[in-house]
Amino acid sequence: MKRVVILASGSGSNAENIFSYFKRGSTAEVVAILTNKKTAKVLERCERLGIPAYYFNREAFSGSDNFVEVIKGLKPDLIVLAGFLWKIPIPLINAFSNKIINIHPALLPKYGGKGMYGNKVHQAVKENSDPETGISIHYVNENYDEGAIIFQAKTRVESSDSVDDIAKKVHQLEYEHFPKVIEKLLT
Ligand code: GRF
Repeated sequence: MKRVVILASGSGSNAENIFSYFKRGSTAEVVAILTNKKTAKVLERCERLGIPAYYFNREAFSGSDNFVEVIKGLKPDLIVLAGFLWKIPIPLINAFSNKIINIHPALLPKYGGKGMYGNKVHQAVKENSDPETGISIHYVNENYDEGAIIFQAKTRVESSDSVDDIAKKVHQLEYEHFPKVIEKLLT
């Protein structure tokens, strides 16, 4: 059984979807979810689903090698960022080379980089009247949203779509593809 550790800062709907997907199969399991936000909704999901959850602050995350040791202790085969907003420190990247992946709610290299997350991304897609958007799943390197792309999927954007409509379409793509891409990477 392969071990997946998820980092999430917000609602955690992707984290829950990934957890549920692997609960139904036997290739992998989500062994822990870590968050940098005490009030994140993902913590409620963890409690409801019985997933071990850990909170860490900025100091614990960037200030020492302890964080790397904590993660190593979880023995992850893959670390999955699912709506995680902090930049991953170099020691963690080096300790888990090609084992940290992120999902971005746009077709990178479009609309990536610091500050481009959530509805800001979908807003930019709408303002530019892009006819399509999508998701990008990529390896994590030392720059925001710049690691090698593993997978992309697209969806059409209608001129009548609101920012929320775009967000919904992108979330659907995330739910459909993210667990499968994780599974593929682990087998
Ligand atoms: C997703 O759209 C993901 O692509 C982005 O942050 C959002 C997280 O949503 N990185 P949720 O917390 O999984 O509901």
